[in-house]
Amino acid sequence: MYNLLGVQLKSPIIIGSGPLSYSAEGMRILSDAGAGAVVTKTIRKERAINPAPHMVRSTNNSLINNEKWTDFEPERWINEELPKLKKMGVITIASVGHTLEESSELVEKVEKAGADIIELVSYDYTDLIPMVKDTKNRVNIPVIAKLPPMIENIGDFCKELEEAGVDAITACDSVGPAFRIDIETGRPLLGGNGLGWLTGEVIKPITLHKIYEIRKKVKVPIIGLGGCMSGADAIEMVMAGANFIGVCTAPILRGESVIGKIFNDFKAYLERLGYNSIEEACGVVHQHMGDVNERIKFEFMYNEEKCTRCSLCVKVCAYKARTLNETMELDEEECRYCGLCVSVCPTKALEVSELQKANN
Ligand SMILES: Cc1cc2nc3c(=O)[nH]c(=O)nc-3n(C[C@H](O)[C@H](O)[C@H](O)COP(=O)(O)O)c2cc1C
Repeated sequence: MYNLLGVQLKSPIIIGSGPLSYSAEGMRILSDAGAGAVVTKTIRKERAINPAPHMVRSTNNSLINNEKWTDFEPERWINEELPKLKKMGVITIASVGHTLEESSELVEKVEKAGADIIELVSYDYTDLIPMVKDTKNRVNIPVIAKLPPMIENIGDFCKELEEAGVDAITACDSVGPAFRIDIETGRPLLGGNGLGWLTGEVIKPITLHKIYEIRKKVKVPIIGLGGCMSGADAIEMVMAGANFIGVCTAPILRGESVIGKIFNDFKAYLERLGYNSIEEACGVVHQHMGDVNERIKFEFMYNEEKCTRCSLCVKVCAYKARTLNETMELDEEECRYCGLCVSVCPTKALEVSELQKANN
């Protein structure tokens, strides 16, 4: 079991607030598929009316959406959906937004209706601190703050959240605004004002950086959310400093069975890499982050048996330093050791030796 703020989860995979958590029944399916906890669609004082269309696939593994919060009235969550979830034993994180006025009206009712944890969310990050302080005075269940995409000095801000009493941080919400255009008509692909928010694989490197900066400043648990599509992605989030892994786009695009797969692959990676627990792997990257001016050197290692002679390494070399004739050759005078050849090799026929500090 995985302990999230005193609540026992069967897995560290948490489903972020989104269309799959539109109702108790939707959330039960996610829980049955292996999610440790599920976050409700964001509950507000009024129900949302969404533009149509409001979700579009952008690349194979990413989405842009301008879906708003829940399209149920809060009374529906409080009187029907949350009690149902309690009865079904689904570990429920109730997402409540987006202003202090709304959270102060809703959080006690949501707690009473059976939520295990509350996640506060706001488009304006400065609202989060008063929302956290107020909610902590009103409820006994743990309180998470979910960060919106644009925050100045994210680490320092999260320290303030911690001082305000927050129990955990979800990092982060979708990235944007972003949009796509239908080139046949020249119209935006999404309805409403056409602008939406980017999620899925393409935002993972941004999420990793945010988790990294937050982990430097706070001790509370971090739920890494944004771009996790696989067990390997989940490990990266943990290595940046996350304690739990959130997913939203992955089950939307691949179906809920991906939840169990991410969890199983994640466990297999932890084991293969020699970590006995998430805690052991949490934040390991921090000890390896060098100085921006640090000079390191490495050698290329070429394994002819693994090479399929696809020549991708040759094609991507900006300096024309690689040739592949009878064997692989490197012009060491021209090579700048940028490393791109290694990162595109599909079979790991090219790898780098251990990194060493250069003397000059
Ligand atoms: C269609 C859609 C609807 C979403 N609705 C909400 C919402 O109501 N409240 C919220 O806090 N986040 C919402 N999100 C954001 C997700 O919870 C999550 O932060 C984001 O998708 C990044 O994670 P991912 O890359 O794993 O999808 C939504 C995301 C999507 C794709």
